[in-house]
Amino acid sequence: MADTAGATTEAAETASADPRYQALDATMKRRQYRHDALIEVLHDAQGIFGYLTTDVLTFVGRQLQLPPSHVYGVATFYHFFSLEPPAEHTCEVCLGTACYAKGASALLAEVEREAGIAAGDTTADGKLTLKVSRCPGACGMAPLVVYDEVAAGHETAESTLRRVKGWLG
Ligand code: FES
Repeated sequence: MADTAGATTEAAETASADPRYQALDATMKRRQYRHDALIEVLHDAQGIFGYLTTDVLTFVGRQLQLPPSHVYGVATFYHFFSLEPPAEHTCEVCLGTACYAKGASALLAEVEREAGIAAGDTTADGKLTLKVSRCPGACGMAPLVVYDEVAAGHETAESTLRRVKGWLG
């Protein structure tokens, strides 16, 4: 277990200067700065900051006394963590088996072409993040696309492009 007294002076200074870091430090303290609380701490950090900046990951690593490479590795491994500021809109195409069988892959390719980005990326103007998911369990709605956290079923390339073009302007 990490030693709570081991937090560096620099990290403590960061925490005292920004109330968001104080809130994050409080969540770590509540978990006794345990290494095995890293995922929960990163969840909290994303909730507080909106996304995980390098500074936030560094702060978490220092406070939990974990190597930065380990913290970064965990943050990039799980798709629910974001290391970029959230876009205005998100379009998440399911590529699970049922959706794939009903044309989700071609639908995704159309959106990638229209937005000029690959899945996982955000447009340069910050208007759209394009994501893929692996079966959130609504296979009866295949192909499924989630627009700004709202699920839409039986989507087509046309219906998705209509929505995305409206966002991209
Ligand atoms: S495969 Fe897409 S919701 Fe299940």
